[in-house]
Amino acid sequence: LKHLLTIEQLTDQEIMELINLAKKFKASNNDKDAKNKLDKTNEHTVVGNLFFETSTRTHKSFEIAEKKLGIETIDLNVATSAVQKGESLYDTVLTMNAIGVDALVIRHPDIEYYKPLIESQTIKCSIINGGDGSGEHPTQSLLDLMTIYEEFEKFKGLKIAIVGDLKHSRVARSNMKILKRLGAEIYFAGPREWYVEQEFGHFGKFIDIDTMIDQLDVVMFLRVQLERHTEQEFKQNSFLEKYGLSNTRYAKLKHNAIVMHPCPVNRDVEMGTETIEAPKSRLVAQMANGVFMRMAILRTILRDKF
Ligand code: CP
Repeated sequence: LKHLLTIEQLTDQEIMELINLAKKFKASNNDKDAKNKLDKTNEHTVVGNLFFETSTRTHKSFEIAEKKLGIETIDLNVATSAVQKGESLYDTVLTMNAIGVDALVIRHPDIEYYKPLIESQTIKCSIINGGDGSGEHPTQSLLDLMTIYEEFEKFKGLKIAIVGDLKHSRVARSNMKILKRLGAEIYFAGPREWYVEQEFGHFGKFIDIDTMIDQLDVVMFLRVQLERHTEQEFKQNSFLEKYGLSNTRYAKLKHNAIVMHPCPVNRDVEMGTETIEAPKSRLVAQMANGVFMRMAILRTILRDKF
């Protein structure tokens, strides 16, 4: 694996290998002896984190994953970099490559920002997509797959609803594609205007969440992405009641159902505050798994360095 750009580029076998490696890292994290034997890079290896959009989980869990693997990490602070003088993404990456990074984790607002970078004859470093606008979020998708697999040990036949701001969500786009391919039954819910039939209809069915809440295995809520909204003003007052995880809906979930959200959550919009750390919620597990999955991704992409 040279780059990780989209979730669909991975074969089912590669996905299972990443999940198993992430689980191995997770298991050894709680075992002092095993932790000491954790694979550490045996060469001077440098990974740069370039975040052109805000991030807490993706940015900081990559940073922790890099440190756990003995990788040197450099952060480019976009606000104080030559980007402010008008330097393009391509020229920024050309520079990072020239000064010696082995891989770059990049989050950028443009969909498929990575295309000119991987087509370059000069740029040789690996690119890991930390989110491309409303395009894809493959590392989030992989940690979500790990979280689901830990719970059910399968994907085939699971009934999974993706709920909320579908239109603006890179998490929804990555997850719907891969979960359908892995055999899950996908349902979409939320405001009808955020469901685009031509795009999402191929992957699943639009439902009223209340007609299926007691049959779903996984209910995946999405953040309302106000920063990407260009249409009419979003009214959050009634959102929780109409589409979100209220206490009433939580009480109707199947006994072994799980609730997910990529976070950050708009509390009392997508999910009621009481449901965020409730027993069926896996939000904290998703954040924790993010470190181990990102270790697995870095270990796989930089395999020659270990
Ligand atoms: N889930 C996610 O991508 O969170 P951040 O925006 O904090 O990285």
